[in-house]
Amino acid sequence: MTKWAQLTRKRHRWIAIPMLIMVPLSAVLRLSGNANVVKDFPAIDAVQSILILLLALTGGYLYLFRLVNKKKRQRRTGTVASQSPTSSQ
Ligand code: HEM
Repeated sequence: MTKWAQLTRKRHRWIAIPMLIMVPLSAVLRLSGNANVVKDFPAIDAVQSILILLLALTGGYLYLFRLVNKKKRQRRTGTVASQSPTSSQ
């Protein structure tokens, strides 16, 4: 895995933490009849949108990175062996 892909993976992992807090929090607020709290603080939605955008960008990169690496490996080795994507260097 290249340095850039490693960094992107770390970022993806770190951005997932606030996302995992925000999503249940805003769901509970909405479902418990406190939807006006969400309305009064539009930043809640804005933050979630930014986080999901960052996750989609970093996640998309990781997905493509794995796909491209798999193709490269298949071309190099001439096999379609199933190998753990994390073990590729
Ligand atoms: C929005 C689109 C998303 C895409 C396309 C995406 C894509 C990916 C991919 C391809 C990986 C595998 C990385 C690898 O093994 O090399 C991954 C790992 C991961 N994703 Fe996402 N993801 C998305 C959203 C999310 C969300 C919403 C969360 C959690 C809130 C999340 C949390 C994680 C975590 C914790 C990992 C493991 C990271 C690691 O192994 O270090 N992802 N994601």
